[in-house]
Amino acid sequence: MANSLISPSILSADFSKLGAEVEAVIKAGADWIHVDVMDGHFVPNLTIGAPVVKSLRQVEGAFLDVHLMIDKPEKWVGDYLKAGADLVTCHWEACEDFDSYVQQIRDAGKKVGLSIKPNTPVSEIESVLEKLDLVLVMTVEPGFGGQSFMADQIEKILQLKKWKEDKGLDFYIEVDGGINEETVKLCRDAGADVFVAGSFVFKRNYAEAIAILKED
Ligand code: DX5
Ligand code: ZN
Repeated sequence: MANSLISPSILSADFSKLGAEVEAVIKAGADWIHVDVMDGHFVPNLTIGAPVVKSLRQVEGAFLDVHLMIDKPEKWVGDYLKAGADLVTCHWEACEDFDSYVQQIRDAGKKVGLSIKPNTPVSEIESVLEKLDLVLVMTVEPGFGGQSFMADQIEKILQLKKWKEDKGLDFYIEVDGGINEETVKLCRDAGADVFVAGSFVFKRNYAEAIAILKED
């Protein structure tokens, strides 16, 4: 289906052969590669940083969708841009200087994403939507893969879709957390067009998983 992009989260990949894992999911039909960066402060887990993004840049055809779950993203975003991120998404709750964050990404000619945690009302970001290429609606508390989908977040997707239409804006609506063959449909029907999936993709045949997620 057009306008339905799948972004497998490497959080559920085998880190001992990360390059091969990324090559395999691209071959299996992945559109983007979702890279979860966690700092152990903004979220209670610690993962990877810019050097890993730089290494993944070498995988041919990888569109790197970098999800920063870190404090003060405006201080670190330059490292991820230099490393080769194609799109950077930070958290509204973690930003101290949102305009600087946006400007650094624009100067690098890359795409600007913004995310909100489940307890953050989507109305908080209404005034900045026109600066964005993507809004990421978290459908779990950020920090860990393999959690259950929070259906109450679908309201946010519906509201974002309405704002897109009413205001004539053009940004992707991405969802992340607990995406599987059932929840992907709920999100797509509500208006989401980019689907992050970690455990659903990496715990089965990659091509089958991606084909299921892309189905109408
Ligand atoms: C959670 C991460 C997600 C996570 C999704 O904080 O942002 O990208 O890897 O994993 P699943 O698809 O297993 O819920
Ligand atoms: Zn993520």
